[in-house]
Amino acid sequence: MYSDKVMEHFNNPRNVGEIENPDAVGEVGNPVCGDIMKLFLKIEDNIITDIKFKTFGCGAAVATSSMVTELAQGKDLESALEITNETVAEALDGLPSQKMHCSNLAAEALQEAIEDYRSAGDDTEESENQKGQETKKTVEAK
Ligand code: FES
Repeated sequence: MYSDKVMEHFNNPRNVGEIENPDAVGEVGNPVCGDIMKLFLKIEDNIITDIKFKTFGCGAAVATSSMVTELAQGKDLESALEITNETVAEALDGLPSQKMHCSNLAAEALQEAIEDYRSAGDDTEESENQKGQETKKTVEAK
């Protein structure tokens, strides 16, 4: 059974969509089911100022994606990197154990996006082409 919070975020997901000219993008796929999440970030002075997502997945994936955007919005990158799938599941008052793998998508996509941003920032002079470049990663199956 899903918690009321999961149902609420599934029915009214926050921050759905795409950001034009994002500072970072993270995309992950879930090998257990084939679902995909894409996350877009705007970052100013090390703070996540805007965040949006697109998830092609189950209800739990949509709810966890929505929750991760709420948790990460306004956070500095270091704090955002501390958001794990357990953090997201707890914020949703829990997920059924067989759906915990769904929460990996959201947390991993956030980490991917931040890593994307940081690696692009390593060589800023020539990174214009790389800015917002997508990274793809497969979430570890549990
Ligand atoms: Fe695919 Fe939930 S069943 S993310």
